[in-house]
Amino acid sequence: MKQSVMTIVGNWKMNGLADSLGGLVSDLIDGLQEGPAATEVVLCPPATLIERVARAVEGHRVAVGGQDCHAQASGAFTGDVSAPMLADAGASWVILGHSERRQAHGESDADVRAKVEAALKAGLKPIVCIGETLAEREAGRAVEVVASLSDDLNDAAFAVAYEPVWAIGTGQTPTLDQIAEIHTAVRRAIVKRLGQGAGATPILYGGSVNAANAGDILGVEGVDGALVGGASLKAPDFLAIIAAGEAARVAVTGQQ
Ligand code: PGA
Repeated sequence: MKQSVMTIVGNWKMNGLADSLGGLVSDLIDGLQEGPAATEVVLCPPATLIERVARAVEGHRVAVGGQDCHAQASGAFTGDVSAPMLADAGASWVILGHSERRQAHGESDADVRAKVEAALKAGLKPIVCIGETLAEREAGRAVEVVASLSDDLNDAAFAVAYEPVWAIGTGQTPTLDQIAEIHTAVRRAIVKRLGQGAGATPILYGGSVNAANAGDILGVEGVDGALVGGASLKAPDFLAIIAAGEAARVAVTGQQ
């Protein structure tokens, strides 16, 4: 089954200066004028650009998100950004538990859960990232690891992104069968834990999605969108991914 709306999220990571608004954002807006109406497009620039990007996309079918938030709303946490601050700057989404944060900042599942709660309280839609490492996949444990991570999700995670750690920024992707297998396992785990309501939680795929492979990946049963890193920094590539998602949705649901 596919959700009736595709969700395509651009994760700019630590890339982008004010200049990015002139080229990337305005090209995206232009490209989306005649584009798909049933695709939720979300741009997650670095925190410094959220306000500017939010202003640039105002009135267009593009939402803005953060890449992380602190679990507390305010306080003595030098260098951190809270969920209410993201919302205040114009964000409506936030990526949480990205493997780069789990690895480089030692974020635990408990940390991620606390951040999800903070995000929801601030009215943000969290996208919770989960995925296996290469060692876990090679040991035949991918399904088990991802199912247990998704079993651990906070009950109101708005979207889940399956991002195999070894596929991020490497140009390598799982096979379509492997993606389908994991998405089925994640769906089963969240429905078991959270009830039938979790049947509507979008499950995105992330990790080396590009203009060339997006059609195949987004056409996989159970893939409701994509979390895109590198390719979201080039407007033509990101627009091609959005178009591929829309084509996959129409092919499966038959709804224009
Ligand atoms: P990538 O990154 O598309 O550059 O592999 C995806 C992500 O980290 O969200």
